Amino acid sequence: MAGPIIRGLLPDNTDISSGERTLIGGCDLVELAKEFGTPLFVYDEIHLRSRCREAVEAFDGNVAYATKAFLCTEMARLAYQEGMNLDVATGGELFIARRADVPGERIVMHGNNKSLEELNMALREGVGRIVVDSFNELDRLDQLCADSGVSAKILLRVTPGVEAHTHEFVSTGQEDSKFGFTVKSGLAAEAVERVRRSPHLELFGLHAHIGSQVFDVEPFAKAVGVLAEFAAPFDFPELSVGGGLGVPYVEGEAAPSIKDWAEAILDACKKAGVKSLVSSEPGRSIVASAAVTLYTVGTIKEVPDYRTYVSVDGGMSDNPRPVLYGSGYETFLPRANQATRQNVVRLVGKHCESGDVLIKEAWVPDDLVVGDILATPVTGAYGYSMGSNYNQVLRPAVVFVSDGSPRMVVARESYEDLIRRDI
Ligand code: LLP
Repeated sequence: MAGPIIRGLLPDNTDISSGERTLIGGCDLVELAKEFGTPLFVYDEIHLRSRCREAVEAFDGNVAYATKAFLCTEMARLAYQEGMNLDVATGGELFIARRADVPGERIVMHGNNKSLEELNMALREGVGRIVVDSFNELDRLDQLCADSGVSAKILLRVTPGVEAHTHEFVSTGQEDSKFGFTVKSGLAAEAVERVRRSPHLELFGLHAHIGSQVFDVEPFAKAVGVLAEFAAPFDFPELSVGGGLGVPYVEGEAAPSIKDWAEAILDACKKAGVKSLVSSEPGRSIVASAAVTLYTVGTIKEVPDYRTYVSVDGGMSDNPRPVLYGSGYETFLPRANQATRQNVVRLVGKHCESGDVLIKEAWVPDDLVVGDILATPVTGAYGYSMGSNYNQVLRPAVVFVSDGSPRMVVARESYEDLIRRDI
């Protein structure tokens, strides 16, 4: 038995006061489902803007939105309008950021295996920082700069050897990693020397990202300590601490706010005697709890002695996180948001495999019926962006809602889209 969905998991501008209607940004979720179809990503635009502002304020403007968490042209535009720089990790993300008219110098380019084409693109677009990840990349970039007569502003990605206490797949601060130059092994020091010998590479400082969905500020402070000690002799202008702040997905979880996270990092920098500008790259904490996904219930099947399966019209193609990381989510009925959720069911998608589970133990009210609209909160990060077309299921539309009006920022895919690249 679970109580009504808790307010803390819903976007800031959610109104559950009537019980029978759930409004986000003044828009009724059941009406949105009717108008735009399901599955549907619904983002509270004011919530997005307020998290961007919180981050910009907390890091004194030195903060890039990690676009991998959720990117479309309108999101890039929004983050930039709110004063954020943009962190991109591929040519594709860079393309969208530029298409949204984000100036090159406001973009940070990442990637552990950037292609020549991507490096060329970064130079051509004049990105503000290229975060260099390996010796091979240093060679490639050096050569490209020599050939084209431009110089590159770079940060070196280092792995501080810090355990982030998160899922193995999203843990990146440890030494045994595909990312960056390890500090302990001396590779980071060697990379600094290597960059300093190049007339084409301007070294602005260091970058580290210890992992994602981290609930505790302590590993960040630890990483700062390692970086500060390493950087002390060099007097770099910038130190980037990456992203990684966690968010609560289910009842009972708690995470620091962006402001608290920033204060802990800046405090650790101060204590460690860091004089350089300190920047960061939050993704999840900007967008995750800004959105809910709406689904239509299509089938309810009771398997005697086992469980009830509730199937919805999306699944692992719009939210692969449960399958990939065993991530937990909650669900509720927007038409009965105060209802006690008495029944535990398995919420599954429409894909042709048993692993297609959205919530292993989902609590729902006992009057749930076929045709109901179900919402899963905290689906704003790494859902749409990691979505797929598995089974040629069409990718959902995305709407931003505010002041009682929805605006579609990504259209639902069509069957024609599925064969656009077929020859
Ligand atoms: N900076 C760098 C260099 C990163 O690699 C990442 C995330 C971020 C910033 C943003 O981290 P955030 O603030 O969003 O935690 N797909 C996984 C998350 C992978 C994160 C990868 N890197 C998930 O769904 O949990």
